[in-house]
Amino acid sequence: MSVPSWLRDAVIYNIYPQSFCDSNGDGIGDLNGIRAKLRHIAYMGYTAIWLNPVYESPFRDAGYDVTDFYKIAPRYGTNEDFRALCEEAHACGLSVIMDLVAGHTALECEWFQQSARPERNEYSDRYIWTNSVWESGFRLIGGYSDRDGCYRTNFFYCQPALNYGYKNITKPWQLPMDHPACMANRQELLNIMDFWSDLGCDGFRVDMASSLVKDDPTGEGIRELWQDLRARYKAKHPDGALIAEWGSPKEAIAAGFDVDFMLHCTNKAYTTLFRHERGTNQSESWIGDSYFRPEGKGDFRAFLDIYQQHYDATRTQGLIALPTGNHDMHRISMRRDTDDLKIAYTFLMTMPGVPFVYYGDEIGMEYLPLPSKEGAYNRTGSRTPMQWDDTKNKGFSTSDTPYLPVDDRPDAPTVAAQWADPDSLMHYLRALIARRRLTPDLVDNTKFEVLSDGYPLVYRRGKVTVIIQPKDAPAEVAVPGAVSLPLGLHATLDGECVRLSGKGAAIVETNA
Ligand code: NOJ
Repeated sequence: MSVPSWLRDAVIYNIYPQSFCDSNGDGIGDLNGIRAKLRHIAYMGYTAIWLNPVYESPFRDAGYDVTDFYKIAPRYGTNEDFRALCEEAHACGLSVIMDLVAGHTALECEWFQQSARPERNEYSDRYIWTNSVWESGFRLIGGYSDRDGCYRTNFFYCQPALNYGYKNITKPWQLPMDHPACMANRQELLNIMDFWSDLGCDGFRVDMASSLVKDDPTGEGIRELWQDLRARYKAKHPDGALIAEWGSPKEAIAAGFDVDFMLHCTNKAYTTLFRHERGTNQSESWIGDSYFRPEGKGDFRAFLDIYQQHYDATRTQGLIALPTGNHDMHRISMRRDTDDLKIAYTFLMTMPGVPFVYYGDEIGMEYLPLPSKEGAYNRTGSRTPMQWDDTKNKGFSTSDTPYLPVDDRPDAPTVAAQWADPDSLMHYLRALIARRRLTPDLVDNTKFEVLSDGYPLVYRRGKVTVIIQPKDAPAEVAVPGAVSLPLGLHATLDGECVRLSGKGAAIVETNA
């Protein structure tokens, strides 16, 4: 496997910068705020942090609309603050991963402003434009400027797609991947990666990584693009991490990524675990019959059948990431109590690959139904300020106008309260992370075998057997060769039999 060695036992903490810690009292989280919390992050056992975008932006999609890829957004600090953050993170044993918004920019980006001009210039072909403003089609926006043509977006209207070329060309304005403008965009991406790597960045999570080449039904074009970028990036930064937001690990890893996520957006596998949707009103009915529910009506096979295909295709090549959540999903805590979360985290921290923990999930922060902020829509409720303690704004900021409302209910979880409680979710997660990192079989990506896929779920990771019982019902599982039960919830080991008194989980060491 050619993934950087530090990724093999990595547990990565995902920070939404605007909501994490505000060091200067302006109501918005910032880089120095993150820096102030590095010791807490390291204490939890995480080995790396991934920051959602921190580049200069008008924030119409929370920073996924970049105006200047070479500049930290002033609200987060300066490039020098980023360098200092990396230096201190490294001193704490933490790697730093940035979000690379590879596929599009903001409308305000100078490159797009040039591209939108009617007279031809260096940037005319760096975005995808039709030949006429009257041409209509998928994600084409007309009438933006005096340039006669529609620009193609990648996501929102304000995210014009950078031109990396078309694989199947059917229109005169579609350019081949090796067109000089497309190759210039490729080179620019490498320049951006070099720039931040030189300041201390250890890797990139690539936004919408599969979307760069257009009309590419077999994936041949996107594979070629990323294999080229990987070779050139790794030649300079052999320990740099490439993490895809692709949602299809077997494709992303074949294209040259070290890691890809199982996510909610590509197939239903991940969703069936925690966020099974029924109906359209997500906030009310999204949870349905997820496998991780105490009613025990879920179907683990709905996840496993897809996961296993990706795992078998990648186990010696790269790593699958299973996140607790992220800035695009409802919080995993929705309709779950602390035990439900401990059970879910036991699963996530004992699977192959790289676990990602979304900020706040370590204390069970809740989804708050809130009006949209910075293009977040129903994602807003998962992006509220981190709850540190019981001071003003739960310790997030001294401002009277925090970025988003803080969950100030008296029983809302905080880091400080969970520090003081040895049975807290936070301490349990910390113990799980330590167990994972101290157990070679749990970080050996090639070892994973499901022994029973109902309730309880039983799987083997080398000499470790994991028992997961989300259903609120007692269970007994025979574990041949069981030696000890170093970590469990409502579980006891009696000879070679694990007994669960109700919903619970067990990590069992065996001699076999
Ligand atoms: C995926 C990101 O995770 C999401 O937050 C963003 O809105 C889109 N890509 C567009 O960049």
